[in-house]
Amino acid sequence: MEEKTVGQILWERQVSRRDFLKFCTIMAGTLALPVGFGPQIAEALEKAKKPALVWLEYQDCAGCTESFLRANRPTVAEIVLDILSVNYHETIMAPSGKRAEKSLEDTIKEGGYLTVVEGSVPTKDDGIYCCIGGRTALDNLQEVAANTAAIITVGACAFYGGWPATPPNPTGAKGVQDVVSGVPIINLPGCPFNVDNLTATVVHYLTFGSLPAVDDLGRPLFAYGRRIHDNCERRGHFDAGEFVREWGDEGHRKGWCLYQMGCKGPITFHNCPTIRWNEGTNWPVGAGHGCIACSSPRFWERPAYETVPIHELTPPATYPEVKAAPEGPSPVATGVIGAAVGVAVGAAGAVAVRQLIKEGVEEEKEAEGEE
Ligand code: SF4
Ligand code: F3S
Repeated sequence: MEEKTVGQILWERQVSRRDFLKFCTIMAGTLALPVGFGPQIAEALEKAKKPALVWLEYQDCAGCTESFLRANRPTVAEIVLDILSVNYHETIMAPSGKRAEKSLEDTIKEGGYLTVVEGSVPTKDDGIYCCIGGRTALDNLQEVAANTAAIITVGACAFYGGWPATPPNPTGAKGVQDVVSGVPIINLPGCPFNVDNLTATVVHYLTFGSLPAVDDLGRPLFAYGRRIHDNCERRGHFDAGEFVREWGDEGHRKGWCLYQMGCKGPITFHNCPTIRWNEGTNWPVGAGHGCIACSSPRFWERPAYETVPIHELTPPATYPEVKAAPEGPSPVATGVIGAAVGVAVGAAGAVAVRQLIKEGVEEEKEAEGEE
């Protein structure tokens, strides 16, 4: 029997043409393509054959699988992921034991499948700290990687090693890109990753026959090309120098900036503020907690509540810039923040910088008074 196309499966599942085109337009937006690409995506998706997919899970907490399964209402996006032929997924597949291993063997023999990897790969002591079907994760990954079309890593662990790699890293945990070469690899880090970015990556692959453009860490630019800080709804408060100083204080209740509480938004690249989580409901900073940089390498080793130095301050992208007349001590005059804020842009940035300087000076005075 001839294999069905994605379009045929969608129509059989009674997805309306309107919903399908809406989904394709949203995908064009998520992929940072001009809106005119919506129809092109629709045309390509309709004709595409559903790709086989192998999902490997190694040293992890299964949070990314939870993220993959998180949706609670059938959307076109879910169906697009659903129609991927998930031939092997250790956590959610129905077969077990030899039947499960047979399914993986058959897929590898066929070749050309997509591989998703969740979790880090232990490399110490010949990789014995994670074995599946009597073989190490390292062996298993090398075998699957040999015949795959591309590898998509999901989550912090498969990206750089994640929490299993936190010093002293007893298992020698590594990310996929550190143990596999010669195969296209794209990284979707986060803790967990956001399933909407996997949907967009798969849609890009089905539409253009290739993975999206990536940054120097192998992360797709459509999802990791902008700083959290530049799209954050609290950015106006940063620019105006309005900071939360204590959990539950007035600034916290009013939704002010969380930089002083350790928010890593100014140094983190991810599209959380724009696509959000749980079907676009909210995201960490929106819910009142600072970003902990979960899409950055070695984020588990960064103290969550320490402020980060800002070496580059770029203007807000989603929300309007807050303008203010420059006044008060300049960074150069006080010398407090010059190293911390290398490039402060515009009057708005200057206000935030002044506020940070003022606090630095006050803290210094307090410290002197205590001596
Ligand atoms: Fe938003 Fe954090 Fe930047 Fe403040 S520091 S504007 S809370 S991203
Ligand atoms: Fe992670 Fe920060 Fe987004 S903690 S989920 S990158 S807001």
